[in-house]
Amino acid sequence: MIECSRVDAIKRMNKPARLALVVSKSEDSRPNIITLQWFMHTSFEPPMFAISIKQTRFSYKLLSENRKFVLAIPSTKMAEQTLACGITSGRDIDKIKEFNIKVGRGKLSDIPILLDAVANFECKTISQIRSGDHTIFIGEVKYSWQNENTKLKPLLSVPYDRNYEVLARDGRYILGMVKRNKLKG
Ligand SMILES: Cc1cc2nc3c(=O)[nH]c(=O)nc-3n(C[C@H](O)[C@H](O)[C@H](O)COP(=O)(O)O)c2cc1C
Repeated sequence: MIECSRVDAIKRMNKPARLALVVSKSEDSRPNIITLQWFMHTSFEPPMFAISIKQTRFSYKLLSENRKFVLAIPSTKMAEQTLACGITSGRDIDKIKEFNIKVGRGKLSDIPILLDAVANFECKTISQIRSGDHTIFIGEVKYSWQNENTKLKPLLSVPYDRNYEVLARDGRYILGMVKRNKLKG
């Protein structure tokens, strides 16, 4: 082991990583989507997820005002849309309309589920904890949905490396998938 900076150590653990899209909406706003790398499954019974959102995001305001959200797992089909939702703000644009994101009705609230996602979880926020410059929202899953196309793969945040196929890129953000194994038989 060699001692190094925190940034260098984090670079070694950060990628590949799963991604999530969180849809939120206040009573009088349109639905908005944020791209997240910082999320995790935290309980089986009851089923729960935690998401970590910087307080400066528009989504932070919406999540604080309405205690419900949809956590969607983007498919590789959603690479450009996922990147776009992660570099623009719902303060300025309607991301669903602008990026042509297919939405459907859920069962918990008027917050839509994402039809090209691998899976969607409709959550009720049960607590929130401040963690430095981010806030962790913990949601209990009330309804779950999976894509009827079982071949769809989850999109990943990937390193720039020959083992991964790049599907969308903007500066340090590289989204993609594991390269298909070309071996036959
Ligand atoms: C790959 C990727 C991962 C991201 N992960 C997070 C995250 O875990 N938490 C967070 O607060 N922002 C994260 N962001 C940044 C937000 O998605 C971004 O600031 C977004 O524009 C905020 O949108 P909003 O203002 O509409 O809420 C990520 C962005 C990308 C592209």
